[in-house]
Amino acid sequence: MGKTFYVTTPIYYVNDVPHIGHAYTTIAADVLARYKRMAGYDCFFLTGTDEHGQKVEKAARESGETPQELADRVVERFKGLWKRLNISNDDFIRTTQERHKRAVLALYQRAWEKGDIYLGEYEGWYCVPCESFWTETQLEEGRRCPSCGRPTERVKEPSYFFRMSRYQERLLRHLESNPDFVQPPSRYNEILNFVRGGLRDLSISRTGFRWGIPLPNDPEHVLYVWFDALTNYITAVGFPDDRERFERYWPADCHIIGKDILRFHAVYWPTFLMSADLPLPRRVFAHGWWTVEGKKMSKSAGNVVDPYQVTDEFGVDPFRYFLLREVPFGLDGDFSRSALVHRINGDLANDLGNLASRVLAMTKRYFGGRVPPSHDLMDGQVRSQAERSLKELDRHISDLAFQQALTSIWDLVDLLNKYLDETAPWGLAKDEGKRRELEAVLYNCLEALRLLAIMLSPFMPSAAQRLWEMLGFDSKVEEARIEEVGRWGLLPEGQQTQPPSPLFPRVEDKG
Ligand code: MSP
Repeated sequence: MGKTFYVTTPIYYVNDVPHIGHAYTTIAADVLARYKRMAGYDCFFLTGTDEHGQKVEKAARESGETPQELADRVVERFKGLWKRLNISNDDFIRTTQERHKRAVLALYQRAWEKGDIYLGEYEGWYCVPCESFWTETQLEEGRRCPSCGRPTERVKEPSYFFRMSRYQERLLRHLESNPDFVQPPSRYNEILNFVRGGLRDLSISRTGFRWGIPLPNDPEHVLYVWFDALTNYITAVGFPDDRERFERYWPADCHIIGKDILRFHAVYWPTFLMSADLPLPRRVFAHGWWTVEGKKMSKSAGNVVDPYQVTDEFGVDPFRYFLLREVPFGLDGDFSRSALVHRINGDLANDLGNLASRVLAMTKRYFGGRVPPSHDLMDGQVRSQAERSLKELDRHISDLAFQQALTSIWDLVDLLNKYLDETAPWGLAKDEGKRRELEAVLYNCLEALRLLAIMLSPFMPSAAQRLWEMLGFDSKVEEARIEEVGRWGLLPEGQQTQPPSPLFPRVEDKG
């Protein structure tokens, strides 16, 4: 049995079409999954849609559809976007699928048998858009939702409760002995303080709407959407029927989520799992939020960034690159057209694209496009930087430090640009006596480009593949195993390269 890696995105609500926030989480998870596959893991990467709940019921009413019709329509927008963005998910879960209902009911049953579910009365403030209950003290001024700022509604009704309080001590111990359970560290502290402040029992059923999974013991009630939604992570790996698959992939190695849904993942979810005697996920990583041109993104402000539109204009790889390069993963960031254009023209077109073009053009001019012999000459700094970048990449990706991972890759790009200027192969080419040096310099550059194609592949799969092909390979770089190909000196002498074609066209800043 090889080593496994299980990574998830949140499942997205279908009451809204996908925007840059959804794309961000999914792209980050995709980079992680792609890298882990190349690192030899049997990787399982899950995304999907959250289709139950009052929000979806309400949206369907407004659009004159049944909730299922709405879900069936919007899910295509998500699936289509993931295809366009080159997302390599291994499964796509929808909470309206039969397999999921079975898993949710099995999880509920376990909690029930533990005596962790009881009928009580719920009274509190409810935020419909967030599907969240709040206590009086949590509300913001004007009884607004502390998460989204919108007005909440007073709700009082019979409800089944989950004895979350029972798991406070255990969760606290788990957090204290696993400081990596929640990342980044600022989020860990937030959760630690929250749990120290005490856990109340959680209302997990509602009677105010119908669109959800009815409780087997009291079908007037449907399950609160978070109990339903969080279960998706175990449904997809075979819970409760397929034991072998479940044990292979669960616990998940990483749940990647946005900071707004951290509490559900780092508090509620672990307590549900504890109640069911199931292992906890290894890590929950909460990333920050994007603003757009300095402003909060919202439908009412009309500034929602549509990933279909941005990629139409700028291409998929530059979009993927920008999102992970611009902002450290875990912090908030600002999306602006000028920042995107700046990154494309600077990092991509200039630094990387030109580098590849120059090296391949010289290979063509001086060697008819064939990889020259290396002579093991003049490779010192290039080789050691390439080895350093490979090593750092592994560490940074494992830490989900995507920005640093890209910086490590660009250390090699920058060094190569300098190396070319310093060794000036166009000068060496004028001197017959310098032939060996010329060969060595170009070999070193080509070999470094080969390693760059490998390192870039998780981030920019198409551009990396084109670079790989320009270097004369006819395989798929994403199928390469780093263990086999991620070493200096493997580019075969004599391999026929292709003439360069621009990897990243420059774009105009129209403002
Ligand atoms: N359905 C729940 C998740 C259930 S997981 C068991 C949900 N869905 S969502 O569609 O509203 O949001 C999904 C993700 O999008 C969240 O991780 C959220 O953080 C992310 N984003 C929404 N707006 C965002 C930004 N402006 N910026 C970055 N990410 C944002 O919550």
